Amino acid sequence: MVPELLILWGATVILQADLLPDPKSSLLPPVNFTIEVMGIAQVLLRWDPNPEQAPGLANLEYHVKINAPWPDDYETGTTQSTFAVPLHQGLSASVQTILQGGPLPLASSWVSAELPAPPGSPGTSVTNLTCITNTVAGHTHRRPYQVSLRCSWRAGAAAPGDTRYSLYYRYGPWTEECREYSTDETRRNTACWFPKTSISSKGHDWLAVRVNGSSRRAAIRPLDRLFAVQAIARANPPANVTAQIQGTHLSIQWDKPFSAFPHHCFDYEVKIYNTKKDYLQMERISSNAFLSVVDAVAEYSVQVRAAVSAACRAAGLWSPWSRPVHVGSEERKPLTEWVLILLTVAVCVALLTCSLLCSTCHLWARLFPPIPAPKSNIKDLLVTAHCEKLGASTTETEVVSFVEEPEFEILENSVF
Ligand SMILES: *[C@@H]1O[C@H](CO)[C@@H](O)[C@H](O)[C@H]1NC(C)=O
Ligand SMILES: *[C@@H]1O[C@H](CO)[C@@H](O)[C@H](O)[C@H]1NC(C)=O
Ligand SMILES: *[C@@H]1O[C@H](CO)[C@@H](O)[C@H](O)[C@H]1NC(C)=O
Repeated sequence: MVPELLILWGATVILQADLLPDPKSSLLPPVNFTIEVMGIAQVLLRWDPNPEQAPGLANLEYHVKINAPWPDDYETGTTQSTFAVPLHQGLSASVQTILQGGPLPLASSWVSAELPAPPGSPGTSVTNLTCITNTVAGHTHRRPYQVSLRCSWRAGAAAPGDTRYSLYYRYGPWTEECREYSTDETRRNTACWFPKTSISSKGHDWLAVRVNGSSRRAAIRPLDRLFAVQAIARANPPANVTAQIQGTHLSIQWDKPFSAFPHHCFDYEVKIYNTKKDYLQMERISSNAFLSVVDAVAEYSVQVRAAVSAACRAAGLWSPWSRPVHVGSEERKPLTEWVLILLTVAVCVALLTCSLLCSTCHLWARLFPPIPAPKSNIKDLLVTAHCEKLGASTTETEVVSFVEEPEFEILENSVF
């Protein structure tokens, strides 16, 4: 082992010694390195091969290093590259010539270029910029699915009251300015809505968003943000959710959400809420039907939501829940209804019986000899009331005997 390593090391040293004098001295950095802004959060880096470079060196490539706003680096065989990066903090990059294919990587010195940050007072740029997209119906046959975009943000703490924020988005080569804004209590724009955009509903690219602004009192700093389109795509809720209970089985079905993605591209979450037991069941499935064993005498509220599954695109956002579908019935409810109905019937029957009894017994005649009309009216009422009261008691004789004297006294005392 050790001798082998030594031999290898020796070989490396010899190779290095062979190569060192010649190419290293002749590897020269590129010239005319420039950074050009191509669009919102997009730059073109361009350079030329060093004209002094000794010809005949194959495999010459370039190593590009981004220093700010955040470090990144890559290698390329071409002399230009375009990429997306937020530009509100400026950009600084470097490039060097490298020689690939040799036993050791060889590189020239670096050349650098810088794009200054756009002007603006500190604290004037918006914060907490977030965006969400949604698939909507397109008007044409060629584009049945379109994408709407909604973004919101908070006004910068140091932004004057007259600040007018504007939002622009760029998707690929398309750039569009927002026309529909919502404002906060100081009437500064804090949200924006595009009913239709050029964003592809199945896209994977970056969405670049810029919010800049103007004010008479301060220079407003812009803010750029890049969003992975799939990460901010919110699915539509599943359509036509139906639920039914057969015996002890609750079966739920629904259609896939309105989306450019086919059936097999969705994950679903089913939420079954047992209103009687205040119990919540959540299930995650990838088919569009669900069967559950349930308590037959309970009421359930069923909701479903959807998200594009990782099988078709990097996971996006869950849709809102579908409208609740109510299914099943609590036994208690019909029972109490029946009890109420029975009670009403019983009371009616009792009243009827009582009035019949009263008239057949000639209660009036026997108890109250003829007296002036208003009086008798009141008595009628009172007697009827007593009949009602006693309707529930068992015999006719009791009714008659009970109603007697005390009533009359009360009547006389209270009314006259
Ligand atoms: C560098 O840029 C200058 C000015 O644009 C141009 O004249 C020159 O040819 C460029 N150098 C190379 C090596 O292309
Ligand atoms: C806004 O963003 C900041 C920092 O990113 C965070 O601390 C804060 O909680 C956010 N505010 C709201 C209302 O989301
Ligand atoms: C805001 O940005 C857009 C797109 O880059 C640009 O066209 C516009 O002039 C900018 N407005 C202000 C006030 O800076």
